[in-house]
Amino acid sequence: MINIIGLGYIGLPTALMLAASGNEVVGTDYNKKIVDDLCNSRLTFEEEGLGELFSKAKEKGIKFSNDYQKTDFYIVAVPTPYEKINKKIDPKYVVAAVKSVLDVCKDGAIVVVESTISPGTFDTYIKPLVAESNKKVHLAHAPERIIPGSMIKELVSNNRIVGADEKTIGEKVKSVYQTFCKGDIVVTDIKTAEMSKVVENTYRDINIAFANELAKICREANLDVYEVIRIANMHPRVNILQPGPGVGGHCISVDPWFLVGDYPGLANLILTARKTNDSMPEYVLARIREIMDGKGITDVSKVGLYGLTYKEDVDDVRESPTLQLLNLMKKHLATGIKVYDPFINADIVENQYHDFDLFLQDVEMVVIMVAHSHLKEHQEDIKGKIILDTKNALNRAGIYKL
Ligand SMILES: NC(=O)c1ccc[n+]([C@@H]2O[C@H](COP(=O)([O-])OP(=O)(O)OC[C@H]3O[C@@H](n4cnc5c(N)ncnc54)[C@H](O)[C@@H]3O)[C@@H](O)[C@H]2O)c1
Repeated sequence: MINIIGLGYIGLPTALMLAASGNEVVGTDYNKKIVDDLCNSRLTFEEEGLGELFSKAKEKGIKFSNDYQKTDFYIVAVPTPYEKINKKIDPKYVVAAVKSVLDVCKDGAIVVVESTISPGTFDTYIKPLVAESNKKVHLAHAPERIIPGSMIKELVSNNRIVGADEKTIGEKVKSVYQTFCKGDIVVTDIKTAEMSKVVENTYRDINIAFANELAKICREANLDVYEVIRIANMHPRVNILQPGPGVGGHCISVDPWFLVGDYPGLANLILTARKTNDSMPEYVLARIREIMDGKGITDVSKVGLYGLTYKEDVDDVRESPTLQLLNLMKKHLATGIKVYDPFINADIVENQYHDFDLFLQDVEMVVIMVAHSHLKEHQEDIKGKIILDTKNALNRAGIYKL
C-alpha cells in the first residue's frame, strides 16, 4: 500500500493517479477539512480532468485519512516555503512529515520525498532523522514537474527524475511511477535530483526576468517587446519567454531563492533575476499611474484589476502578481482599486467583485493581470474601456501594454 502524505495541489492528483492505475493508496493530510471533503467526494480544488480521475480512483478504492498508515511505501508532498529573512528553505513541513512517517512505517520502508527541496536538504535534515530513529528505511527524492492547469496530462506524459543513493531502490521507485507515467524516468542520486529540480525552475525564472527586462528596455526605446521577442525566437537556438506583471506560484518564484540562500556569493545572476521579476508589480503600478494621468483619471476606484491567480485558468493565488501589487498599494496607503477573478469565489481581498458585469460597470480602466480564457471569451464586454494588458492577452489596437 502507498501512503501519500499531503493532499494539496501535488499530493492529491498523484494519489488519485496512483490509485486509478491500480495501486492500493491511502491519502493522508493533517488538515481535517481536506480529508472530510475528500471522504465525502468533494474535491478540494479545481483542475482540468481532476473530477474524472477522482471518480476512477474511488472506484479502485482509494482511501483518505488524517492518520499516517503503517506500510512500506510513502510519498511525501508537503509544502517547502523559504525563510523570508535568509531565503533558505524552511524544511519544517518536510521534517515533521518524515518524522511522523518514521513513527509508524514498517522496517525497510521506502520514503519518497516529492516536495521541491534545496540541494542538500536530505543530507542536512532528512538523513539525520532516519539515523536518530530506530527504523531502517530507504530514502528517495522524486521532485514533481507538473503545471497547474495541465496537471493530469503532465502526470502521465512528463519525464521524471528519481534520486536514490541505492540503485535498486531507485529502480523500485521508478517501477511505481511507471504504473502511470509514460515519460522517461531517469534514476540518479538524491543530491543530483535535488539540484536538477531547483535548476529547472531557476532557468525559467531567469528567462522570464530577461523578457521582463526587455519589456522595460523596449518601452524606453518605443518598441513592441512582443514583436522583438517573436522575431528573436525565429532564430533556431533562441527561446525567450514572455514578459508579464510578475512571477507567482509555488515554484518559480520560490525555488531560485534556495540557491540564493545557500550560495549567496555565487548566485548573482539568479538573485538579479529574482529581483527583476519581483520588481514587475511595481512597474505595473507605475504604468497604471502613467495611464491614469494621461487619461485624466484621478480616482483609483475607477481602475479594476482583472485576475487574482498567479496564472491563467487556475484557482491558485499563491504569491500572485496581483496580490503583490495590492500589497504594494497598501504599503503606499493607496486603496480602492477594484478586483475581479472568475476563478475566485471566496472574498480574499478588498473591493473584490464576483460579477463581471458589475465590475465593468464600476470601472473606466481594466488592467489585465491574468489571461484567463474567460477574458478572451468576453472580449466584447470590455470594448470601450481603457485597457492595460500586462499579459498581451488581447491582440487588438488601442490598448496599453507593459
Ligand atoms: N503546486 C505546484 O504547482 C507544484 C509543482 C511542482 C512541485 N511543487 C512542490 O510540491 C510540494 C507540495 O506543494 P503543493 O502545491 O501540493 O502544496 P499544498 O500547500 O497545496 O499542499 C500541501 C498539503 O500538505 C499538508 N501537510 C503539510 N504538512 C503535513 C504533515 N506534516 N502531515 C500531513 N499533511 C501535511 C497540508 O495540509 C496541505 O494540504 C512543494 O514542495 C512544492 O514546491 C508544487
